[in-house]
Amino acid sequence: MDSKSQYEPKIIAFCCNWCSYAGADLAGGMRLKYASNIIPIRVMCSARVSPHFIIRAFQDGADGVLVAGCHIGDCHYLKGNYISIKRVAILRGLIDFLGFSGERLRLEWIAGSEGDKYARVADEFTELIRKLGPSPIKGIPFRKDNIVTCRP
Ligand code: FES
Repeated sequence: MDSKSQYEPKIIAFCCNWCSYAGADLAGGMRLKYASNIIPIRVMCSARVSPHFIIRAFQDGADGVLVAGCHIGDCHYLKGNYISIKRVAILRGLIDFLGFSGERLRLEWIAGSEGDKYARVADEFTELIRKLGPSPIKGIPFRKDNIVTCRP
């Protein structure tokens, strides 16, 4: 087995409490099999995922970041997922500009009843990241003054 086939990506999934996290829960409840590379983190809304969270996830070794929220029109805070669309689009462009693929950041709408979609997205995204290989910024030590911090 060569080193590339041994590579297992690490993916952080920020899931909104009301829909996507429930979808992830349902996938587990349905005993669906999907890639175990995804590490879900529950947030109250996809709009809660600030650019700081995403950049920090990459800084801390993520190969891919998934932001998952309610379908358009279903956000429990009304406009959260509209904010996420703009934010993720800008960050994907920025990641491309920095020279590592914007495909490493993905946005998905997953309802609480869509456990099967959560499992499919987890598998598809893991496969994509596996093809892209390890993040080029993984393991690069960041100077303390370069580390993004979340301030209230
Ligand atoms: Fe789910 Fe806003 S509450 S995206």
